[in-house]
Amino acid sequence: MFDRKSLQNLIKEKLTDYKFIVVSNRQPYTFEYAGRKINCIKTIGGLVTALDPVMQTAGGTWIAYSSGDADADVLDKDNSVKIPYENPQYTQKLIFLTKEEENGYYYGYANQGLWPLCHIAYRQPVFSISDWEHYKNANKKFAESVVDAIGLEKPFVWLQDYHLTLCAGFIKEKKPDAVVSLFWHIPWPNPEVFRVCPQKNEILEGLLSNDLLGFHIKYHCHNFLETCELELEAKVDWEESAVTYKGHKTLIRDFPISIDFDKLSEMSSGEDVSRKVNELPTQIDPPYEVLALSIDRIDYTKGILEKIKAVDRFLEKYPEYQKRFVFFQKGALSRLHIKAYKHLIDEIQSLAEEINWKYRSGYWYPIVLLNTKIDYITHLALYRACDLCIVGSLHDGMNLVAKEFIAANTDNKGMLLLSQFTGAARELKNAVLINPFDADGFADAIKEAIEMPKEIKSERIIRMRENVKENNIFRWAGKFIKELIRI
Ligand code: F6P
Repeated sequence: MFDRKSLQNLIKEKLTDYKFIVVSNRQPYTFEYAGRKINCIKTIGGLVTALDPVMQTAGGTWIAYSSGDADADVLDKDNSVKIPYENPQYTQKLIFLTKEEENGYYYGYANQGLWPLCHIAYRQPVFSISDWEHYKNANKKFAESVVDAIGLEKPFVWLQDYHLTLCAGFIKEKKPDAVVSLFWHIPWPNPEVFRVCPQKNEILEGLLSNDLLGFHIKYHCHNFLETCELELEAKVDWEESAVTYKGHKTLIRDFPISIDFDKLSEMSSGEDVSRKVNELPTQIDPPYEVLALSIDRIDYTKGILEKIKAVDRFLEKYPEYQKRFVFFQKGALSRLHIKAYKHLIDEIQSLAEEINWKYRSGYWYPIVLLNTKIDYITHLALYRACDLCIVGSLHDGMNLVAKEFIAANTDNKGMLLLSQFTGAARELKNAVLINPFDADGFADAIKEAIEMPKEIKSERIIRMRENVKENNIFRWAGKFIKELIRI
């Protein structure tokens, strides 16, 4: 099995002469004031969950933009700080954006333009020319920081996600020999959808400045190849899965992202989490016999409203579960300066209140919403304590919550209800697959998962655990790095 040690060996053998640089919008650790004290906080989210263990193994530099109010006070003259603070393993180098730049680049072009464009969640993308200008400038700033970090060394640059589509082009202008790659963490849409983007050519050209471009699944690779065929005078080689544009070849490959299975599983079976698992039933209100859990960033792509509607349908269709079933939705607030996100929070709140009013009986009601932070021990304990973990994304590149639940489920109990529109559904075939748009089918799937015989649940969970253990985050990083070494 390819594990942390194997990745360390691969890096020692093949990358010692290279400087390893990861670049993402979101920083892995923020520094924040709590009174006069500075706390170092690990960022929540798929990207950091996946890449932090890789960086802790590989070392090198992670460049991102500063969003912590105390960041500036811990940085050295190169805007760098060693992280994790308690046990430093790699360097975090930060760039600074003005409020106006952050608004145009992150809240504007990236999250109101590209995000809805790439997800089939039926939100119209908004493309504003001033947001585009800020997006370009922010990409230039990231690229300058990369060039500065490279110095005279041979670099291996690994860009992350839809915020940085133009970065490779800017880096190559200054460092034509740099090996530059990008991993796309969200879906790539089909060409019909992508063609509405007014800046489509610049974005494709920017992406094709990379030497390697990674997507979670083959389907997104195919969508990308088709898009290039349709939009650019590019040579698309389907056999090799590569695009040659203006004499430069970019390899297009699928790399399904994952998690540090062993670490998560070990933590989850530890004493602190086990104690918490026993305490939870007395701490969660209202009391329950069957606990369904969801943990999401609050985003319209995650299908939170659809889950609440399915719970309504489930209790209507199967009234024997009233007064026994509780759906616990933990949501992390996100992208709050965007109207659609603020509006979504209100909608979720009001729908949950309506459903709770409809079914409330004595001390019992069916839906609990929690938007405040919980500690990691409780997070893992919830995975172990629940009878169902529901991942209901309308569309998702991968969805690492599904894999986290499987890794944390050390008792081999409970069941995963997984949207068929997530990347994870291609690997976790032993989950109960759902269509979140179909409230009736969703309600039946909840019943099916609850009533599935214990031994079958356990068998299916064990199979999924084997899969995630084997296809862990170190294997993902190793595959990506091996492909880059070939270049
Ligand atoms: O899933 C896409 C993604 O950008 C992840 O890479 C990241 O973990 C998540 O969305 C969080 O988004 P944001 O950084 O905007 O809070």
